[in-house]
Amino acid sequence: MYEPILFCVKDKNNYTFNTDDILVEAKSGAKRKLIDYRKAVPTVYNSEKVPGNVWEFARVRYRMDEYENYPTQKPIALLERILKASSNEGDLVMDPFSGTFTTCFVAKELGRNFIGIELQDEYVKIGLRRLQLAKEFKGEKLQKEIRTFETEKLAAAHTLQLFEGSNGKYIHSKH
Ligand SMILES: C[S@@+](CC[C@H](N)C(=O)[O-])C[C@H]1O[C@@H](n2cnc3c(N)ncnc32)[C@H](O)[C@@H]1O
Repeated sequence: MYEPILFCVKDKNNYTFNTDDILVEAKSGAKRKLIDYRKAVPTVYNSEKVPGNVWEFARVRYRMDEYENYPTQKPIALLERILKASSNEGDLVMDPFSGTFTTCFVAKELGRNFIGIELQDEYVKIGLRRLQLAKEFKGEKLQKEIRTFETEKLAAAHTLQLFEGSNGKYIHSKH
């Protein structure tokens, strides 16, 4: 699964791209401690590099903490890279199609100001909760949906079991 990301600037001679903030591990020569003899002065390969044109991020899965009940949620890690590269602290970031408000969530974490726009109330509720901007919306309490494995854990925590002790008596145990 892939999604194209367009990088557009208003002024090609004046734009923000913080390469140093998004360096990734260079898996080639540096790892094998190779020397680059193509350089005027032979030096070890860099251990970090600017990400190339193809970025790989795990999609948001059901069991991940960041998961929201939403069809096209973008991973936090992806937005982190985009915002670190293309904005500075105190800048204003706008996402006009916010969905789960991942962009705004990351902007807040990174000390950017943000504007998020979303058409559907269901998703506005997610945004308000994720950004800790409100505890309720139109009279409804905003709570993260409990996932099936969380219900199972809760149920297990409240299950009482009977064990036979060494003295032949039965003991109640909660696990
Ligand atoms: C692809 S999703 C965005 C996903 C988001 N990046 C995330 O991480 O969750 C696009 C969102 O834009 C919203 N949308 C579509 N048209 C809109 C409009 N005219 N104004 C505001 N929001 C709109 C949809 O409701 C949908 O939630």
